[in-house]
Amino acid sequence: MTAPGTPASPPSAKLTALALAARKGSAERVAVVTAYDVAFARLADRAGADIILVGDSVGMVVQGHASTLPVTLDEMVYHSRAVARGVARAHVVADMPFMSYQASIDEGMRAAGRLVKEGGAEAVKLEGGVAVAELIRRLVSVGIPVMGHVGMTPQSVHAFGGFKVQGRTEVQRQRILADARAVADAGAYAMVIESVPRALGREITAEVSALTIGIGAGPGCDGQVLVMHDVLGLDPTWKPRFARRYAALGDAAVEAFGAYFGDVRAGRFPADGESFE
Ligand code: KIV
Repeated sequence: MTAPGTPASPPSAKLTALALAARKGSAERVAVVTAYDVAFARLADRAGADIILVGDSVGMVVQGHASTLPVTLDEMVYHSRAVARGVARAHVVADMPFMSYQASIDEGMRAAGRLVKEGGAEAVKLEGGVAVAELIRRLVSVGIPVMGHVGMTPQSVHAFGGFKVQGRTEVQRQRILADARAVADAGAYAMVIESVPRALGREITAEVSALTIGIGAGPGCDGQVLVMHDVLGLDPTWKPRFARRYAALGDAAVEAFGAYFGDVRAGRFPADGESFE
């Protein structure tokens, strides 16, 4: 409900799934980045992110696992809550972790409910297509916006035999197209398309009514998403082909830590102005 005198949509209003979905077919691309804590969520929001994704990539880039599979629902709720506290404008989407929705529709509904209710997420993201279409339909029907995720879905890493580009064979291409159609037809407002040939990214984007957000899916998608560690160069040893580094914060951090340790060891820190009378 809007309080009397409150403008219906102030200029700094939060971006919603509806507002973002309305960009489909326009030239306005959707800029998405992941974040896992309040500090980086604030920075990404300040920089103008449209969507901040609390990705289950947290398992790899924050927790140090080799895949996203170990991430728990409690952990996603925790990270989502931290991110949501730091965001004023961007739309906040939280990933549903592995096995929080695959066993049954009821479990999936409850897991999504926790991400929204406790985690402050404004939409949830889940992987798959035909197999999760009914769950997407149910979530949308109770008012939870859903972002799908098709192509190379990291929670199926073992089935794919690694994080490998999908959709290069005709069988894979048809499967991914069927998944994308199922996700859109079930009512998802958006879907991530990950690691597919750029022609397939373009084809899905032209065909489905949902926004497409590419990662390693070429320039033909409605928007792009990258993991924040890749954008910021937080790990100097890691740069996937599909990512672009916009800073070298990993190297900058090593330099800053080194300078601090050097000052401590040499007695240069703290100075008088950094201590009390
Ligand atoms: O978990 C994640 O960060 C993601 C993006 C890579 C799309 O799913």
